[in-house]
Amino acid sequence: MKLEKFLEEISPLISDKDTLAVNASPREAGNCRKMTALINKDIAGSSAVNLKDFDIKPCLGCLSCVAGHCLQKDDFGKFIKLIQDRRVLIIISPVFFTSIPAQLKALIDRCQVYWTNKLKPVRHCDGYFVLIGEQSKDYLDCASRPVKACFNTLGITHKGSYYILNNEIA
Ligand SMILES: Cc1cc2nc3c(=O)[nH]c(=O)nc-3n(C[C@H](O)[C@H](O)[C@H](O)COP(=O)(O)O)c2cc1C
Repeated sequence: MKLEKFLEEISPLISDKDTLAVNASPREAGNCRKMTALINKDIAGSSAVNLKDFDIKPCLGCLSCVAGHCLQKDDFGKFIKLIQDRRVLIIISPVFFTSIPAQLKALIDRCQVYWTNKLKPVRHCDGYFVLIGEQSKDYLDCASRPVKACFNTLGITHKGSYYILNNEIA
């Protein structure tokens, strides 16, 4: 999908809502960063963060969350606080080996604490997923599955997923 078409489609859906755009790419000045900056600039009421600026450690699979809390000490709680009262969350991610980068997968896996305890930390929030890749292949199904499951676990309503090619941004 071309960048202009994406912005045209998404703007009326999220304008003037408290929107957080999350750049899930670890790359400093890449395509996802560019896209995140554009959303932040063009859409009223939005702000943006880079996921790589948060220290989010991977899930250890230790099941301590069954007893109510996670053993990892890092920025996970800070990130959840940041999205908790938003009306819209947009995750912008590159394709890494047909799926999502490790930083985003780490965030998703850590949401196990909410799934295990049947807690929904986010309310009244619409979620969008934007995947950016180099090849014109259908990666969206594979890459968006964990994101959709995570939205569902957190209490975010998945409203749409989009695939944008590198050359549709430049
Ligand atoms: C480790 C790695 C794996 C990648 N795997 C794929 C892939 O399987 N399919 C694809 O289309 N692009 C792949 N790419 C290309 C990136 O998804 C693409 O260039 C994206 O726009 C990069 O976003 P960024 O500039 O925000 O980091 C890969 C890039 C990297 C670094």
